Amino acid sequence: MAPVAAQTMDVKSIKSVAESPALSSVPSAYDFNINPNDEADPNDPEFAIPIVDMSLLTSGSPDQRSKIIHDLVKICEEWGFFIAINHGVPESLMKGMIDACHGFFSLPDEEKEEFKSGNDVLEMFKYGTSYNLALDKVLLWRDFFKVRVHPEFYSLYKPACFSEVSMEFSKRTREVALEITRAISESLGLEPNYIHDAMNMDRGLQMLAANYYPPCPQPEHAIGIPHHTDHGLVTLLIQNEMNGLQVEHNGKWLTVNGPANGFFVNLADQMQILTNGKYKSVMHRATVNNKATRISIAIPHGPSVDTLIAPAPELLEKEGQAPKYIGMNYKEYIQLQQSGKNYMKSTFDHILA
Ligand code: OGA
Ligand code: NI
Repeated sequence: MAPVAAQTMDVKSIKSVAESPALSSVPSAYDFNINPNDEADPNDPEFAIPIVDMSLLTSGSPDQRSKIIHDLVKICEEWGFFIAINHGVPESLMKGMIDACHGFFSLPDEEKEEFKSGNDVLEMFKYGTSYNLALDKVLLWRDFFKVRVHPEFYSLYKPACFSEVSMEFSKRTREVALEITRAISESLGLEPNYIHDAMNMDRGLQMLAANYYPPCPQPEHAIGIPHHTDHGLVTLLIQNEMNGLQVEHNGKWLTVNGPANGFFVNLADQMQILTNGKYKSVMHRATVNNKATRISIAIPHGPSVDTLIAPAPELLEKEGQAPKYIGMNYKEYIQLQQSGKNYMKSTFDHILA
């Protein structure tokens, strides 16, 4: 298929495209082939997704905590992904957050467009469809919005409940993310607050990024979000009752299917850079389905935007290694990742030392 210049198409939202009664196949601008042979068998023990019981990190015995921290080494090296359970965030709050996002996506297109903005990564909020209509060669079967919730808290002003729910949800997920960074610091043989302090997480960039994937008539011929890694340190993700997230493991794509009230946790680029490649920023993507709308909410947690990111000197010394990545400031890294030239390519290629 010849790439269709997206800007020639006037797509307001994939929601409205998908709701059109005449739609029986994927419009050519969205054509993307998924190879079913690349998918992992979820019943194969090799693909059993690691589960981390967070309650044992915080209220378990010292032995239980050190066992989990020990397990985390392997999980972070081999997977870069796990499901966090017993994390303390109430199920009602998680559901309330999904409902509030659903409420937003259900607004008429004209009302959602009030939240459109420029392409600066540090906008307060941004609503759109696909990824970047001006650059995308293949359109993505998703609408999205992103809101910056830390260090300053911003919110959508519609629907009415959004601000209150998102403030509480952002605060509680932040606590979970910080607990995870403490455990990961320890798993590296560092002080628990090492990552928090080195990455200036008291001013860390946290976003709330919601995705809306309506049913698709030919799910194997479209993609929600193509393969990518996230730019921060660690991303937490929740979804409504539909699956769709796939993580790459041992060369296969594995659909993540897990406890409904768990957080899907993926390590992101800054964790790989900080650990000089020891821990893995997992490649992942979002597929679509032909049954029901899927909503996911990703909550990426990163360093402060002015942090100089580079492999941790303490780890380089301990492992006797030279840095594999050049240093750069986090904001520049995000801009590099989001500039169209990296579309579907790894940002790491640009920062090898
Ligand atoms: C993301 C992402 C996956 C999903 O928003 O960065 O990877 O399942 N989302 O929606
Ligand atoms: Ni992602």
